[in-house]
Amino acid sequence: MPSAAVDLRSDTVTRPTSDMRRAMAEAEVGDDGYGEDPTVEALQQAYAERVGKPAAVFVPSGTMANQLAIRVLARPGTLVVAGAHQHVVAHEVGAMAALAGAQPFAVPDDDGVVHPDDVRWARRAAHHHWPEVGLVCVENTHMPSGGTPWSLHQLGTVRAAAGGVPLHMDGARLFNAEAATGIAAALYAAEVTTVMSCLSKGLCAPVGSLLAGPEDVIAAARHERHRLGGGMRQAGVLAAAGLVALRTMVERLPEDHRRARRLATAVAERWPDAGCDPERVRTNMVVFRPPDPDGLLDHLRRHGVLGGTIAPGVVRLVTHHDVDDAGIDIACRALASA
Ligand SMILES: Cc1ncc(COP(=O)(O)O)c(C=O)c1O
Repeated sequence: MPSAAVDLRSDTVTRPTSDMRRAMAEAEVGDDGYGEDPTVEALQQAYAERVGKPAAVFVPSGTMANQLAIRVLARPGTLVVAGAHQHVVAHEVGAMAALAGAQPFAVPDDDGVVHPDDVRWARRAAHHHWPEVGLVCVENTHMPSGGTPWSLHQLGTVRAAAGGVPLHMDGARLFNAEAATGIAAALYAAEVTTVMSCLSKGLCAPVGSLLAGPEDVIAAARHERHRLGGGMRQAGVLAAAGLVALRTMVERLPEDHRRARRLATAVAERWPDAGCDPERVRTNMVVFRPPDPDGLLDHLRRHGVLGGTIAPGVVRLVTHHDVDDAGIDIACRALASA
C-alpha cells in the first residue's frame, strides 16, 4: 500500500487536527466516574444544547451509544423496528440480540428511510401474537444507501406511525445531514426520543460519541454504560478534542459533500449501471455495485487509492477532511482507468 494513499475507506480514518491535539494536551480533567471531569461535562452540555435535549452522555463509540439507547428504551423480548441495512441491524455484530435481548424487525430501507407503513404493520402485528414493538430506530444520514439525509417530513410520518413507541436516531453523521439539508440538528432531534452522534468520523476527533435525550433516559444510559464497562476516568483529554470537533469541524463538511459528488460522477461515467446516481449523492458517501468489486479495489490500491466494501458486491468510497481536491483527482483518474 502506498504510504501517501488517498484513503477513501471511511471517514473514521481522519486524524485529530493540530487544534485538537493542543486542546487535548491542555484539557482540564477529573474523574468522570464521579462526574468530576469539567471537560466531559462541557462536551455533554454542548452536544445536548446543539440537539436541543435536556441531557447527554459521552461514550467511547457510536455502537455503544446505539446499544445504550436500545437497552434503556426497548425491553428484552420486544421488537426494534429498523432499516435492514442500518448499522444497528447489520454492523453491530448482533449486539441488539446479544446484549439487550431485543429482536430486530428489519424493514426495507434501500431508499435510505424507514417507511411508516412498516412501522404501523409491526405495531398491529402485536395483536396477532407478534412481539410488541419496543423501539423504532432510524439512521440519519443513512450510510448504506449512500449517505442519504432524511427530510423532516419523512421523520414526522415515522414518528406519527410509532404512536407512543420511543424513537432512537443513529445520527453517527447527523451533522452531515444538517450540512446537506440545512435542517438544524435540533429540529431532527425534536422528532426522536434519543439521538446519538459520532465525533470520530467526519468531525475528526480521535475517539467518542454522544447520546442525548431526556434526563431520566440519559441517567439510565449512564448506568448501562458502567455496566458494559464503558465508564471512563480522565476522559477530558478525549472530550477536549470532541469540543473542537463540535465547535469547528461541522462548517467544513460541505467540502466533503462536494468531493463525494465528483467521485460519484466519475463512478457513474465509468459504470452507468452500478446504481450510483450523482444527483442522489448529497453527503460524503459513494456506494455502488461495480461488475468486479475485488478487481476494482485492487486496481485502486495499485493507483494509490483505498476503498472498501460494506456488503458482498457493494463498494463504498467516503470523503473526509484528510482527502483534498488533489486526492479526489487521483481517485477519479483511477476510477476512469479501471
Ligand atoms: C451509521 C453508523 N452508526 C454507528 C456507527 C458506529 O460507530 P463506532 O464505529 O464508533 O462504533 C457507525 C460506524 O461506522 C455508522 O456508520
